[in-house]
Amino acid sequence: MDDSSPNRQPWPLNLTDLEEAAGSVLSQMVFDYYRGGALDEITLRRNRAAWEEISLRYRVLCDVSTRRLDIDLLGSHVTSPVLFAPTAFHRLAHPDGELATARAARALGTVMVLSTLSTVPMEEVCAEHDLVWFQLYVYKDRGLTRDLVARAEAAGAKAIVLTVDAQMWGRRERDVRNRFHLPDGIQAVNALPGGFGEMPERAAESGLAAYVAALFDLTLSWRDLESLRSQTSLPIVLKGIVHPDDARLAVDSGIDAVVVSNHGGRQLDTAPATAAALPAVVAAVDGRIPVLVDGGIRRGTDVIKAIAMGASAVLIGRPVLWGLAVGGDRGIEQAVGGILGELDEAMALCGVTSPGDITSDLLG
Ligand code: FNR
Ligand code: LAC
Repeated sequence: MDDSSPNRQPWPLNLTDLEEAAGSVLSQMVFDYYRGGALDEITLRRNRAAWEEISLRYRVLCDVSTRRLDIDLLGSHVTSPVLFAPTAFHRLAHPDGELATARAARALGTVMVLSTLSTVPMEEVCAEHDLVWFQLYVYKDRGLTRDLVARAEAAGAKAIVLTVDAQMWGRRERDVRNRFHLPDGIQAVNALPGGFGEMPERAAESGLAAYVAALFDLTLSWRDLESLRSQTSLPIVLKGIVHPDDARLAVDSGIDAVVVSNHGGRQLDTAPATAAALPAVVAAVDGRIPVLVDGGIRRGTDVIKAIAMGASAVLIGRPVLWGLAVGGDRGIEQAVGGILGELDEAMALCGVTSPGDITSDLLG
């Protein structure tokens, strides 16, 4: 973003400033939907606070003159351990929607996890970037659900990310107050073949909550994983794990990776912060599959802490939306690029030169 000319607004200094800038360009309904959490937003606040509580006990005299951020993950080479978390309805933030997000992910060489509830068809997004993982919601209409998986694999997605913490919707009071809905011209386009693209305004409730209550399948259980495995040859990731016993079940079920996530504090309020849940999940998985983590990751130091605690990579959600709202694909590049710059700097200050060098020895 060129902010050299004297009268051009400089790009926000950090993600807190960027969120504020996004709030000034988004409608109240959309800003609240993006930033909101469930009930009293306790877990939303815990996610951020928990990373801040962790100390990094750095090392010195380690020759940190050359550093690299790249990793290998689920068969792909990724330029950094910072991935884009799946977030819905990007065209609420920018007319190009998920296409702009895919452009930014391509420019940064990282994974974009595409939501089932995207506002641009998955085929167009996968044509824009070759490192897209498809995040799956399971509808009661299991035929539609199977079609989503088949379409994602045919479109070139490199993994299926099954979200397991949101078949019942967390109550987001901001959305109830704003009667959240999709404006005319914006749809959940992947679900159109099932007739489920619309999310109209409803009296005194969230249109999204009403959509989920009517259409998502509460019977989803471990029994369904075998069927999902039979539908695709892609790696399967479970997103939304906080309990170590569920992590063990995931490994025993042949799952390829797990994401320690509480949905950004948007589902069960007073769930543990993901930084608090991560250690027990890492211990339970015991190195058998990659463990990823999301929730409140806002600084390069948070990324180092997550990796030191055993995560292979992190995902960020809301900062991508703030960048999209303020500057489209270039805005996302600036937002995520800022975290990568901080990660590079913090690695040098910790005395490490690659993600592989980051160990629990750094945790103070
Ligand atoms: C989400 N999240 C989410 N998760 C998912 O599996 N499918 C989805 O469609 C969405 N949609 C979505 C929309 C918005 C507006 C937000 C804020 C979040 C959860 C997301 O993938 C991730 O778990 C959290 O956002 C991570 O926390 P941070 O980085 O936003 O603090
Ligand atoms: C949300 C969904 C779409 O949290 O996962 O809004």
